Amino acid sequence: MYQIAIIPSGIDTGRQRNYPIRCRQLGAGIIIPIRRHRIQKRLKIFRFREMIELAIKQLDFSYVPYSGFKVGAALRTKDGQYYTGCNIENASYTPTNCAERTAFFKAVSEGVREFEAICVVGGKDGILTDYASPCGVCRQVMMEFCDPETFQIILATGKEQYEVFTLKEILPLGFGPKNLR
Ligand code: THU
Repeated sequence: MYQIAIIPSGIDTGRQRNYPIRCRQLGAGIIIPIRRHRIQKRLKIFRFREMIELAIKQLDFSYVPYSGFKVGAALRTKDGQYYTGCNIENASYTPTNCAERTAFFKAVSEGVREFEAICVVGGKDGILTDYASPCGVCRQVMMEFCDPETFQIILATGKEQYEVFTLKEILPLGFGPKNLR
């Protein structure tokens, strides 16, 4: 469906291009560039679905003998790697770790500190009826490592049902490392 072509400068949209872009072949000798935003939108949808799938897989590993509320997370780094996480409860309750923090701490403990987005899913017995919105502590951990303007939080109940928020939207006026500089 797509092909990569070099558009000689000036013949596509009048703008200079000398790098390969995705094009559609209309007919003999006619190639038109596919609009960039359409490709990006499609890539994003593909990426969100990939993240949702990863987060859902984590529900199998949730350790929730006390609440029965399973949460899974897939954290995407700026260079496209994933760190996943699940919630891990404890008989003493307070040591419980949320899925989001599990994912963040796995990444940070391996020296990774640049993040693009996180997908979070969850529900009682692993049944996804509502969005599992990150708790305040997890939002604060995100604030430590992420740019609130650009870091995305994808909340989903399935691969087709999700919403995307920025960290700033879910933690307005957040306190972070910048406040201490
Ligand atoms: N939980 C998470 O994993 N992430 C959140 O952001 C909210 C809460 C977990 C912690 C606990 O195991 C269960 O959900 C019920 O609070």
